[in-house]
Amino acid sequence: MLVLGVESSCDETSVALVKDGKEVLANIVYSQIDTHKVFGGVVPEVASREHVKKIIYVFEQALQEANVIPQDIDLVAVTTTPGLIGSLLVGINAAKAFALAHNIRYVDVNHIDGHIYANYIESDFDFPILALVVSGGHTELILMKDHYQFEVLGQTLDDAVGEAYDKVGRVMGLDYPAGMYVDRLAQTGNTTYKLPFVYLDKDSYNFSFSGLKSAVLNIINKCNMKKEAINIADLAASFQNSVVTVLVDKTIQAAKAHKVNQIVVAGGVAANQGLRKALSEAVNKLENVKLTFPKMKYCTDNAAMIAVAGYFKDVLKTI
Ligand code: KG4
Ligand code: ZN
Repeated sequence: MLVLGVESSCDETSVALVKDGKEVLANIVYSQIDTHKVFGGVVPEVASREHVKKIIYVFEQALQEANVIPQDIDLVAVTTTPGLIGSLLVGINAAKAFALAHNIRYVDVNHIDGHIYANYIESDFDFPILALVVSGGHTELILMKDHYQFEVLGQTLDDAVGEAYDKVGRVMGLDYPAGMYVDRLAQTGNTTYKLPFVYLDKDSYNFSFSGLKSAVLNIINKCNMKKEAINIADLAASFQNSVVTVLVDKTIQAAKAHKVNQIVVAGGVAANQGLRKALSEAVNKLENVKLTFPKMKYCTDNAAMIAVAGYFKDVLKTI
């Protein structure tokens, strides 16, 4: 089954062609980061207009690269929520028009489900699965007993982890989106700054990152006022250590409690090297638990993951 996926929920315009939920024939991603960088974050109105400019071109590129014609396609899958409404509408309208014009089945996809299903490109699913969702807008631990059965065990009570990375990085003077740059700096620093490790209740799978973010901002403000030097690499390493330690501990606790066979990591922060290393080490100590991260190119927003999630939604509907 050949699925055409469309993603435009934030600042990436993407169209992909994926066979049987697994084989990526094309995944064209046009990133608007350079446009938004100067503003220090995504400007919704600008994002919508960039999608309008690029969407047809990205469709054409994807069809060309995959070497397919519309008549070869069995299903069109598009992100419909969550996201910036003006941006979403561009992808939704293009996808629906394409499906209607070529008489192809159409399915709505939730963006977070897409991030989780990005892992299926890497590895088959072995339920029960625990998904650690870490993106710019979401931080959640989700239990999946089967395809499309999502039970939220815990979530952030304030900032999403990617959001905390971006805000901390911005105050450090790093470009948007700063997560990747904070990660790189962290690898060159030492954990010399004392920062909080926020666990909330012992048995809670919820997260909170705003206190940690404020603690980092306070250190930077105080040093600036006193004209003291800040070791940015050490501060990045200390911040990353606080984030990653809590994410890993809660993930391992939930994996044990629910006796999962597999842990999958989803969303942009799945690209984080500190998280990849620490979680791999912790999961290695568990017996018979497989750990899957998406390939780096499928961690941040892309349409291949939407095509995979759409494929499963459609297959389940027709069983
Ligand atoms: O999943 P995503 O592309 O968009 C949302 O659905 O939100 O995630 C983007 C987020 C941004 O906050 C970005 O800074 C963060 O993922 N990110 C990282 C890394 N690469 C991307 N955060 C930490 N370390 C990274 N290596
Ligand atoms: Zn995303």
